[in-house]
Amino acid sequence: MLRLQSALPERYTTAHPDQLARWIGDAKQALGSRLLILGHHYQRDEVMRWADAHGDSFGLSRIAAERRDAEFVVFCGVHFMAESADILTGDHQQVVLPDLNAGCSMADMADVGAVEETWDVLGGVTDTDRVVPVTYMNSSAALKAFVGRHGGVVCTSSNAQAVLTWALRPDRSGVTRGDQVLFFPDQHLGRNTGFQMGYKPDDMAVWDPRQDRGGLDDLTLKTSSLLLWKGHCSVHQRFSPAHVAAFRAEHPDGIVVVHPECAHETVELADQVGSTDFIIRAVAAAPPGSVIGVGTEIHLVKRLDDESPDKTVVSLDPLVCPCSTMFRIDAAHLAWILEGLVAGEVRNRITVDPETAKWAKVALDQMLITV
Ligand code: 13P
Ligand code: SF4
Repeated sequence: MLRLQSALPERYTTAHPDQLARWIGDAKQALGSRLLILGHHYQRDEVMRWADAHGDSFGLSRIAAERRDAEFVVFCGVHFMAESADILTGDHQQVVLPDLNAGCSMADMADVGAVEETWDVLGGVTDTDRVVPVTYMNSSAALKAFVGRHGGVVCTSSNAQAVLTWALRPDRSGVTRGDQVLFFPDQHLGRNTGFQMGYKPDDMAVWDPRQDRGGLDDLTLKTSSLLLWKGHCSVHQRFSPAHVAAFRAEHPDGIVVVHPECAHETVELADQVGSTDFIIRAVAAAPPGSVIGVGTEIHLVKRLDDESPDKTVVSLDPLVCPCSTMFRIDAAHLAWILEGLVAGEVRNRITVDPETAKWAKVALDQMLITV
């Protein structure tokens, strides 16, 4: 999705890193408790050093919602995270994204128009009252609102199994909410969770939005327990079984931990799988002297290695690239945003319109009461 971020003034692009650090420090001090800087685990160190809280996508939004005194929430992460923070914070709080082009390529793989068309096709072959739409946190507010309007729920990488269990398995009184889930935008998180719950390959089908009727026949559309949107994360999809094999050949006693956005063939070879927060806990719990091969974004892997002097933490893919959109947020953008706030100018505010926010919040709240 094209979001237009204008070029930064030269003052910021030509400044020495020490100068940027001074400007950020001064602005932070001037704004005091009016300011809350949130840093996602994939951010650069030059940004993370200024964050008041580090966390995963959902955890940070929760912190934003709890810190009611913070007038300005500067979200060092990507667009969908800033939108979620805007939905969960009060009207008196303003959420800012330091670079408007910091999107998420996976979130952009499912747009609300395409999902609405899919819903219509499903309505022609099955009873959509029995289909529960589930969207991963990594999606636009418009998609979360779609899900809220249709009785569905949001999930994150740490609670996907609990959410799908709520959607598909009988509750305490023996009633099931639905017979099928339409899961978007990440096919891998959906598939990995489906396998964890005991579903078989034939129970899951991939809906390809580029093909007529998703590329699926009516019987498959009617009978698949999980319809998985054909989306992926370009960072995590790169980790392959060959990377795991090469790591194990070099470190026979090593531990492999991957994010569930990796392909299933890779996940099934790992020792542990979980969200960014889970990966941090897994490294902390590993015995001293461990060598841990991690399948996630490189900034988090490097930080874990730096912060664990008694362990060796490496990326499973020696050639892994950073998440290019997370990488857009740097000290220069942060300094530009903060100096604007000190001067009374709110740059790059992210707002979700009230109707979209209302329904997206229904889907987010459903997640909170489900897990
Ligand atoms: P987390 O929810 O685990 O932070 O993941 C966000 C993300 O973008 C993973 O690629
Ligand atoms: Fe999106 Fe992948 Fe980047 Fe996460 S790592 S923000 S899913 S592109």
